[in-house]
Amino acid sequence: MAVHSRVYGTGMYVPDEVITNQDLARIVDTSDEWIVTRTGMRERRRAHGDQAASDLAIPAALAALDEAGITARDLDMIIVATVTPDTLFPSTACLMQERLGARSIPAFDVSAGCTGAIYAISLAHQLLSLGTYRHILVVGVEMLTRITNWSDRSTCVLFGDAAGAIVLGPSDDGVHGLLGFHLASDGGRGHTLHMPAGGSRMPATRDTVDRNLHTLHMRGNEIYKTAVTTMYDSCKILLDHEKLSPQDVDVYVFHQANLRIIEAVGKRLGVSSDKVFVNIHKYGNTSSASTLLAIHEARREGAIKPGSLVLQVAFGAGLTWGGILWRW
Ligand code: COA
Repeated sequence: MAVHSRVYGTGMYVPDEVITNQDLARIVDTSDEWIVTRTGMRERRRAHGDQAASDLAIPAALAALDEAGITARDLDMIIVATVTPDTLFPSTACLMQERLGARSIPAFDVSAGCTGAIYAISLAHQLLSLGTYRHILVVGVEMLTRITNWSDRSTCVLFGDAAGAIVLGPSDDGVHGLLGFHLASDGGRGHTLHMPAGGSRMPATRDTVDRNLHTLHMRGNEIYKTAVTTMYDSCKILLDHEKLSPQDVDVYVFHQANLRIIEAVGKRLGVSSDKVFVNIHKYGNTSSASTLLAIHEARREGAIKPGSLVLQVAFGAGLTWGGILWRW
């Protein structure tokens, strides 16, 4: 298969404030032992009160542009994956267009929960393959701590704030870049992970705020099972399409939602744990930023090298799931 697009640069940003499991044990009835055993998380980051999603996204984007060796003026499009934008409108992508000093290029947000970055990259790849655009900035940014119910121990321990960014452009050699993608959704199971109020169905009122309906509601057990099945399915579909075996992949970058989910998918694929990149202990679940952070750190630590076969896979609210197969 001809390879049309590749990564020119990656970047990430996390806020300074570290929230440890011990910090959480002072807020709700939980313990370091419970959180580590059930999730693999040790700490996560929380944005300052005066920061919004674009404040996290800008430094991540600048780092990716720097590595790509281009400036914001060279960009032809900005796509931001997020469910926690600065405001519902204007989009965070438009706010970034102005703050980065990009030309009056198309800029828009994508809402696909934790699969958002995979959706956005796949879209950018398709547009690049048409030849209309040369450089597309994709950002995954999330501030789930802003929509967390801090009295619900089953959700408040899980999430952290972060931004990841990637600059995509045409593949120069037709070999290195995006080999294939898979995207899917099942709206019938959307109620298992949602924020009930704040949209046109249930606009904000004193009552919706009092009832905590502007926070994330989740059926953890159902999501857990769905996550393992869907991420495994995306891997199989992508590998079978390219006639590859799970062992052919050098690095698996799964959505960092729960270490047990990551290990279960790896086990079902029959791959050794040294092929599976993990940074959940440092950042928790950062939603649409998660796999971008993992790719950036895997590159920095030398786990992903030029020529590595990389499988990036996620699932999230929607429900949505999907994956991207890369020849780095
Ligand atoms: N500390 C201590 N106990 C907790 C707890 C916490 N932070 N959160 C839940 N518990 C308790 C529950 O109340 C329950 O107690 P009970 O047996 O007395 O009722 C017990 O632990 C077991 O709860 P359960 O929900 O079965 O635990 P679990 O092993 O399924 O782990 C999750 C819970 C949320 C960690 C797990 O289901 C999960 O990771 N699900 C997927 C979440 C996800 O990926 N979301 C993002 C999607 S993008």
